[in-house]
Amino acid sequence: VDESYIMVKPDGVQRGFVGEIISRFERKGFKLKGLKLFQCSKELAEEHYKELKAKPFFPKLVDYITSGPVVCMAWEGVGVVASARKLIGSTDPLQAEPGTIRGDLAVQTGRNIIHGSDSPENGKREIALWFNDGELVEWNPAQAPWLRE
Ligand code: GTP
Ligand code: MG
Repeated sequence: VDESYIMVKPDGVQRGFVGEIISRFERKGFKLKGLKLFQCSKELAEEHYKELKAKPFFPKLVDYITSGPVVCMAWEGVGVVASARKLIGSTDPLQAEPGTIRGDLAVQTGRNIIHGSDSPENGKREIALWFNDGELVEWNPAQAPWLRE
């Protein structure tokens, strides 16, 4: 089963979208395994985005992600990584379709309010990076038989 690391970025927290963003994943039918409000360090931000280290916007990206609290989430479900990317929409919010999180709620790539893992491998890597083992919960949602035949 796939796992995706989803994070409300500091602008999403400051603009009051935490509840709305959690709600969209809950309503879709994915399972929440971890959730916390967190102030990210520069070191963690650099590790999370290490694949982008050579990009000209990298220092700005690290400043942005550490500029205030983020909400860290681990979501589980068959196909959750690809589905979350669709729910989130394109990296540039002006290109993101209406109905997606970025398409509805944001206007600029440098303030695109949410992160979602881009592959199942990165989902596992990022959840291990942002959560301690004791912060992840195994549980059986009562709605499971009503989601999958
Ligand atoms: P994430 O889910 O946050 O990883 O976004 P993404 O997968 O849609 O995009 P990508 O991994 O390529 O870039 C990571 C993040 O870096 C983006 O979400 C933006 O916040 C930021 N970013 C990417 N490109 C630019 C850029 O050209 N300018 C600025 N300022 N930020 C950028
Ligand atoms: Mg990415």
